[in-house]
This record gives sequence, structure tokens and C-alpha cells, in this order.
Amino acid sequence: MTLGWTKSDWRTRPRVQMPDYPDRAALAAVERALTQMPPLVFAGEARKLKRALGEVGAGRAFLLQGGDCAESFAEFSADNIRDTFKVILQMAIVLTWGAKLPVIKIGRVAGQFAKPRSAATEVVGGVELPSYRGDIINGFDFSAGARIPDPARMLQAYTQAAASLNLLRAFSTGGYADIHRVQSWISGFTDEADARRYREVARQIEDAMDFMAAAGVTSETAHELATVDFYTSHEALLLEYEEALCRIDSTTGLPVAGSGHMIWIGDRTRQPDGAHVEFCRGVQNPIGLKCGPSLSADDLKALIRKLNPENEAGRLTLIARFGAGKVGDHLPRLIRAVQEEGANVVWTCDPMHGNTIKAASGYKTRPFESVLREVREFFAVHKAEGSIPGGVHFEMTGKDVTECTGGVRAVKDEDLSDRYHTACDPRLNASQSLELAFLVAEELQDRRAMRRAAGM
Ligand code: PEP
Ligand code: CO
Repeated sequence: MTLGWTKSDWRTRPRVQMPDYPDRAALAAVERALTQMPPLVFAGEARKLKRALGEVGAGRAFLLQGGDCAESFAEFSADNIRDTFKVILQMAIVLTWGAKLPVIKIGRVAGQFAKPRSAATEVVGGVELPSYRGDIINGFDFSAGARIPDPARMLQAYTQAAASLNLLRAFSTGGYADIHRVQSWISGFTDEADARRYREVARQIEDAMDFMAAAGVTSETAHELATVDFYTSHEALLLEYEEALCRIDSTTGLPVAGSGHMIWIGDRTRQPDGAHVEFCRGVQNPIGLKCGPSLSADDLKALIRKLNPENEAGRLTLIARFGAGKVGDHLPRLIRAVQEEGANVVWTCDPMHGNTIKAASGYKTRPFESVLREVREFFAVHKAEGSIPGGVHFEMTGKDVTECTGGVRAVKDEDLSDRYHTACDPRLNASQSLELAFLVAEELQDRRAMRRAAGM
């Protein structure tokens, strides 16, 4: 597929958003150490995810991708991982109910450490320092020492990713993810006074499970109800880390990124001839591509040819992130570019990154209303263009943080300072995430009703 490609070729291409490590010897030592570590994921798992995403592209499954904007060393705990996993499972059940399709679950986790930044430096109280670029690169503290890129951070990130993935694998198969437990958590949410309007959906899900149990389908008889497939993903920004974890798949003889099941290319690093595209084109994992307002139809075509020359189903996921009110200006021309290429892609909606604003209090936030509006516009454009809205992509956490405003348990501008814990962008909290799943499920239901009415 990528004859002549090597995992170091990106080094000959223009690179952006990557650190210049002052200590080259320390960097080389870390790269050597990482090269000797086991990969975090196996090629067979990446291939399985690719097949699942192929189903999403064909409209036979729905994609839910979510997690932290930036994982951090300070916020690392079993509780945090468990709570995010728990909310993703709840959202997945609600979306399964809405779409009447299997929901493919991918976390932004176990590797989501490196951040692209709009500005190279940050000024606080008249002092200018290099920007924070994620815990895998430098420190969050506003001090000159913390902001120096330190390659040893890659080893700590690898260790944290391995421990996170170990716990997620245990949760996925060890009984925690049993559909009956997850369903009971949802009922807990809808019993609250403010969430009454979702009660009917929760009741219908409960009824469906009672019916299945009566027919003899339970977690004991059906393995699918007791376990889940849960995949990991992150932005492949720090290419030294990605290269060091790249392996040859013994089954196919092809290179595979061992750092996560799916990796994606950010909106700031998607130059068709740049380093990030060069690395990603050579590994056989599913690849995501962020599509923001500045992406031209010609660049998208060039990127599709580079990243998926064989037009393999499930290989390429286009993650649309335009901002509420702007989807109609950009998505139609990009959908048409895909159609002109006859390309197999998954279209998914990231309603977070185009909707970041600065609140009066000075905090970066995202209004729940804008997030929901962008999702609705995404669905509407796909309906008009006759293409498939395959999924949603959120920055979220299982914790009760106050980072995005709105939702039934309304977070207001003045509440943002209460529990604002993100290391980077504002995330939906547990309640906002589940509420959004209910609202997206309503959209999916409408789509299904329309298909049925049209006899499809
Ligand atoms: C992100 O997903 O955290 C991100 C930085 O997104 P984008 O590249 O779309 O801005
Ligand atoms: Co982000």
C-alpha cells in the first residue's frame, strides 16, 4: 500500500506545531527506550476497528468518540478513567436506541497528550513564555523551566497510557460494562427533576431489555450484553513518540501505529506535503482528519488520495469542526469533493473546536446550545446532500466539572470558576454529555422515521 515508506520519512518534510528539544542526546535516548517497549495496541485490533468504521461509513453503525481535550499527569487516576468510560457507555446505549444501530466506541484516551496551539507564546502579567503544549511535551506551570520541552515526559506519557489501557480493557470485559448496570445508571439520571423529558427514552430502553430478558437474552446467555469493544485514539502530533511506537504487523507485514487504535491529524497539521500526513499515510490504522473552515476542496481531495489511495472502507474518518452557524458554508463543498472522488469516508461531527469562546469571566468556554446546534446543522447538511452523518466527537469527562455553559443542570458564566479543571479546552461534564446523547438520539430517531416513511 505504501511501498517505499519508512517510519522516519516525516523527518524530511516541513513540520509545524512540534517542539524543538534543546537536549538532543536525551531525546535520542528516550526514542531508543520507547522503541524497545511493547506497543500499546495490536494490529489486529486496529484492523477490527477499521472494519467497524467501514460499517459506519456504509450507514450500518454509528460512531461515538469522546474524552479529554488533553490528558494530564496531574489528573490521572483510576476514578477519572472509570467515570469517563462510564459516561461513554451510557451515551452509547442512548445512541444505540436512537439509531437502532451498533455504536462504535472510541475514547480520546491513553495517548491524548500533545496539543497544537494557536499561539507559540503566552503572556501573563507582562511575562512572555512559550505556550504549554501538553504534558507529553512541557509543563502547565507558568515558569520558564516548566515550558522547556522535556523528552523524558514521553516515557511518563507512555506509562500512563499503558496503565489507562490496562484498566479500560479490564472494565470492558470484567463485568463493569454489563448493559444492565449501564442502563440502571441512565435511569438514575432521568429521575432527576430537570431531566424528566428524557425519562420516556430511558423507559423504552428498559422495556426493550425486559423484553429481551423474557425471551432468554441476558448477559449470561449473550456475551455481547456483558462486554464492550472500546478503542483508543489521540492526535498524532508528536511524531518522535509515534515513530518510536510504530511496529511491523506480523500478520500483514505492514507498519502499524502501536500508540493507539486510531490516530488523527489535527486541523493545524494537515498540510498535504507536511510531516504529519507523511507519517500517517504509512501506517495501516484507521486515520482521522480534522476538517475546519480553512480546508479547501482541492486539499481534501489531495489528502484523500494520500491517506487512502486504495479507497479502503473504514480507513479515513473526516471530523468536521466548523462552528455553529458555519456548517452550511463549508460542509456541502467538502461532501461534494468526497463524492467527486468516489471516496469511502466516515463523516463525523466535532461540535467542540469551532465553538470555543471567552466568557465575561475570562474563562474559555463552549455554550451547550452552540454544541447542539452544530450537531443539528451537521445532520441537516448530510440530509440535503444525500450523504451519511456517521457519528459524533466530543471533548468530555465523567466528572462534574464546570467548563462548558448550559445544559439542564445549567452551568452559568459565573459558575465556571467553581470546578474548571481542564488542562486545555473546556469539556462537557457527565450530565451535559448524557443530555447531548439524548438530543442526538432524537435526531437519529427522526432520520430513521424518515427512512421508514420513504420505504428505505
Ligand atoms: C483537538 O481535537 O483537541 C484539537 C486540537 O482539534 P483541532 O485540530 O480540530 O483544532
Ligand atoms: Co481540544
